Amino acid sequence: MKENITDMKKYLSERVLKLEESPTFALEKKVDMLDGQLKAKGDYVVRFGIGQPDFNTPDNIKVAAKTAIDENKTKYTASTGIKELKQAIVDKLARDNNLDYGLENIFVGNGGKQVLDAIIRAFVNTRDAVLVPKPYWVSYTQQVVLSEGIPLEVDFNDFLKIDVEHLKSLIKQHGSRIKCLILNSPGNPTGAVYNLKELKEIASICVDNNIFIISDEVYEIFIFGNAAHISAASLGDEVKNITLTVNAVSKTYAMTGWRIGYIAAHKDIISQMTKIQDQSASNPCTPAQWAAVEALNGDQQSVELMRLEYEKRRDYIYKRLTSIDGIKCSLPEGAFYVFPDVSSFYKGDIKNSFDFSSQLLEKAYVAVVPGAAFGDDSFVRISYATAIDKIKEGMDRFEKFCRNLSG
Ligand SMILES: Cc1ncc(COP(=O)(O)O)c(C=O)c1O
Repeated sequence: MKENITDMKKYLSERVLKLEESPTFALEKKVDMLDGQLKAKGDYVVRFGIGQPDFNTPDNIKVAAKTAIDENKTKYTASTGIKELKQAIVDKLARDNNLDYGLENIFVGNGGKQVLDAIIRAFVNTRDAVLVPKPYWVSYTQQVVLSEGIPLEVDFNDFLKIDVEHLKSLIKQHGSRIKCLILNSPGNPTGAVYNLKELKEIASICVDNNIFIISDEVYEIFIFGNAAHISAASLGDEVKNITLTVNAVSKTYAMTGWRIGYIAAHKDIISQMTKIQDQSASNPCTPAQWAAVEALNGDQQSVELMRLEYEKRRDYIYKRLTSIDGIKCSLPEGAFYVFPDVSSFYKGDIKNSFDFSSQLLEKAYVAVVPGAAFGDDSFVRISYATAIDKIKEGMDRFEKFCRNLSG
């Protein structure tokens, strides 16, 4: 019987209706609106919300894209990327990550986010579980939900890293239903970096339990002080066999809008996953692939300059945060986030991280992301991928806001 269709939700899949809106994108919309209103008054919002480098894409990379367009490299390519880019990735993995792969091990897609989604689709059957350590990047759990799987949240220790005892107990409880563990180092939102001992312990648990490791290394370049980035797959053949290394040019080369991400993994995984790309996304933007070839093969000096600048900002923001009464904060060793515990300010009409962030935005014009979006309500995430003068202004406002709450 023909219906008068007005309730669209009734017709949409349970999968899409269950999906949560991205809290960072939602925050950006709100901030854009407020910023527009403030501009008229000569003020602005200090944006610590989005995880996007404030630097421009380096010139050599832009030139490579323009050249590709001029040479009409603008057509479809193989769905998982051009040979030249796969070779540049193979060389990069050997050079930087001590990983020996061939072209058959590489899959290029439309940014880190899309290749992660393709992995989840490739591994997860309905009601299969994926271990997602808290605090997690917002898309991990939702990508599992979109594939009708179950995200199992793993608790964290004092260093904002995996609580190994909880990991073991989840594995005991859920057994072979668990397909993968997502490991993100350097981490978003924490900036935590796993050391060799920690990685070995987690990897050996995964090997013993046939759990594949999805190693998200998109922030690998942004490492500070004495910390070092270690690729999980470099820990030996057994670990390499079950590890999918994920990376992207987005953060490293300030190329978030170009949408190039990639996976290195066992060739049988890559060949099956290629079908996903063939039937859904097709190849990532062709000129962007040529730009990524230049990014990976070209001069890396601009990357080091960005890293040094992030380190300076990290030092500054950490010093400011830890001088505020009531804030607890671990020193981030990588990425461009800091994740302070603000729960001592939860009183009166501030009951949680959403209230704290909303009031901070409305009263002090500072945008941060509530920790609840990353799986823990005691924290907020501050992205310091913004110029140092904005960070100074933002921290002045943040400090004053906290003092008013205490006072
Ligand atoms: C931990 C983590 N992984 C992956 C991504 C995805 O990056 P891309 O912009 O390449 O999709 C992000 C982006 O914010 C991220 O924070």
